[in-house]
Amino acid sequence: MTQRDQIPLGRPDLGAREEGLVLEVLRSGRLSLGPMLERFEREFADWLGVDDAVAVSSGTAALHLGVRALGWDPGDEVITSPFSFVASANCLLYEGATPVFCDIDPVTLDLDPSAAREVATKRTAGVLPVHIFGYPAAMAELETLSEELGLGILEDACEATGAIDSEGVKVGARGNLATFAFYANKQLTTGEGGMIVPSGPEVATRLRSERNQGRDPDMGWLSHERLGFNYRLTEMQAALGIAQLERADALLGERARVAALYRERLGAIGGSPAGEGDDGLLLPCPDRGAVRRSWFVYVVQLPAGTDRDAVIAALADDGIASKEYLPCIHLMPHYRERFGFVEGQFPVAERVSRRSLALPFFPAMGEAEVERVAAALAKALGAS
Ligand SMILES: Cc1ncc(COP(=O)(O)O)c(C=O)c1O
Repeated sequence: MTQRDQIPLGRPDLGAREEGLVLEVLRSGRLSLGPMLERFEREFADWLGVDDAVAVSSGTAALHLGVRALGWDPGDEVITSPFSFVASANCLLYEGATPVFCDIDPVTLDLDPSAAREVATKRTAGVLPVHIFGYPAAMAELETLSEELGLGILEDACEATGAIDSEGVKVGARGNLATFAFYANKQLTTGEGGMIVPSGPEVATRLRSERNQGRDPDMGWLSHERLGFNYRLTEMQAALGIAQLERADALLGERARVAALYRERLGAIGGSPAGEGDDGLLLPCPDRGAVRRSWFVYVVQLPAGTDRDAVIAALADDGIASKEYLPCIHLMPHYRERFGFVEGQFPVAERVSRRSLALPFFPAMGEAEVERVAAALAKALGAS
C-alpha cells in the first residue's frame, strides 16, 4: 500500500496564509513576546465575544494556570469527568488538589450534573467540566450547582473551539475561566498552543505574569514578582493561530461536512445516533436545541461485545488509522495507585470507553475516504 492510500486519524489544514504569516515573523527577527502574540489574543477574544484572552504554550498550561487562578490547593476537591484527556485531571494534581470523578451522561458523554451534585461535599471547591469531543457541557445546571455551593468553575474547552451551548452562548464565553488547545489535531492549530479566557482583568494580569516566569509587564527580564512558569507561545505559533482564526468558520464547516458524511455512511451500515440505540453501532449524538457541537473527532461506540483490537487491526490492514478513544482517567496506573480507583466505579464512562473508537477525521476528508472507512468498518464488524 502506498503512502497516499493511508488514511490518517487527523491532518492539519495549513495554507499559503499560514506560510506567509510565519515567514513574516521569521523575517522580523522577533520570535517571542511580539506583535503576533498580542494580535492573536485580541483576534481570538473578538472572535469568541469575550473581553480578553491569554495565549499560552498548550492547553495543559492553560488548565494549570486556571487551577492556580481559582486557588485550588491541597485539601480542595474538584468535581470532574473521568472520560476525558488526562490533562483535565492532571492539572489538579499539579497544585495538590484532588480530582473527584463522577459519571457522565450516556448520550452527550459530558459530566452528568446530577452525578456531580451527588459527589459534592464540604471539601468541594470547584467544578471542572470538559466539553468532550466538542459537545457543550451542561453549563447552566453546573453553574446553578456552583452558585448554591459557592464553587469555582474552570471549563475545559480544549476540544470545543467554536461550539455553541444550549443557551446559544459560544463555549468559553460565559464568564467562567475557560481553556482552549491548539495541538495539531485540533479545530484550530498552532502546532502546540493554548488559550485561557480570564474571568476578569486582574486575573488576566496574573495569568500573563505567570506564563512569563512571574514577571509583571514593566519588569526587566531578570525580575520576578511571583512564582511563574515558561508557558509562552512563540510568535511563529501565534502567526499560525491568526491565520487559522481567519478561516475558522470554513475549517469548522468542513469538519461538520465530514461528520455529516459519516452519519450518512455509517447510518447505512446500521449505525444510529447515541440516544436512539444502545448495544449496536452508536454514532455521536445529534445537537439538541440551540447546541452546535464543534466537531473535533469522530468517535463511534462499537456494538457491545465487539473485539475492538481486532477491528483496529482490520482497519489498519486496509490502511485506515483508528484509536481507542478515550481510556478512562481513573483507571490509568497513576490514578489507580494514588487514589485506589477500581473498575466499576463509573459504569457509564467505563462502558463508553470500552466501546469507543476514533475514526479518521480532518477537514480535507473527501467522500471517497469516508466511504472507504465505512466500508472497511462494516467488513471488520462483520468479521469480528
Ligand atoms: C479535553 C482536553 N483537555 C486538555 C488537553 C490538553 O491540551 P494540550 O495537548 O494542548 O496540552 C487536551 C488536548 O488534547 C484535551 O483534549
